[in-house]
Amino acid sequence: MPFAFPRESLSAFPPSLHPDYKSTVKRAPKRPLIPMPHTLSELTGPVYGHDSIRPGDEDLTKQHAGEPLGERIVVHGRVLDEDGRGVPNTLVEVWQANACGRYIHKRDQHSAPLDPNFTGAGRTATDAVGRYRFVTVKPGAYPWGNHPNAWRPAHIHFSLFGPSFLSRLVTQMYFPGDPLMAHDPIFNSVPDEKARERMVSRFDLAATVPDWALAYEFDIVLRGRNQTPAGP
Ligand SMILES: [Fe+2]
Repeated sequence: MPFAFPRESLSAFPPSLHPDYKSTVKRAPKRPLIPMPHTLSELTGPVYGHDSIRPGDEDLTKQHAGEPLGERIVVHGRVLDEDGRGVPNTLVEVWQANACGRYIHKRDQHSAPLDPNFTGAGRTATDAVGRYRFVTVKPGAYPWGNHPNAWRPAHIHFSLFGPSFLSRLVTQMYFPGDPLMAHDPIFNSVPDEKARERMVSRFDLAATVPDWALAYEFDIVLRGRNQTPAGP
């Protein structure tokens, strides 16, 4: 069976070994990869679905008794296939640090406060034309110990399945103008500059909600020449 998704997509992906991003040195395969032809079940089998999404899962500011601290934002966009068509009814999951740059995770011991009103995880499904929309707060930058004074630029992690397991994409969305992007080995592990730019959202004045929230637009392309690069 031929590959169902264009292999040129892979050119947008970061190499598995990028020594500036230290943990890739330990986890990158030491031998050449073996191509695995896709089977029918991988192409047509069910993917994690939209049936378990609860109302409100797309609003990260409404998961607790009070509202989280930070700059409230709308993050929206479309999930697209290699031909620019919207991918309908597909699961989109996000996770992020709070406005102070802290995750609720025992490994995260950054000396920034947790927010009792913010968990930092949400999910939704795209509509009939591939659109999605989240409400959240802008995440803070955080230090991560990769090298002296290493700070991650503000980012939101995304996981998408698309139409099959083969179109699974885990990536990160960045914010325009963030000076930390130039110094971030994860962002810069994507070799092509144009591909890196596809991980940066666009400030979207038209989608802001007056007196309430700013907005960023982030379209995600699952495959093809305009593929959004994968990010850890
Ligand atoms: Fe992160």
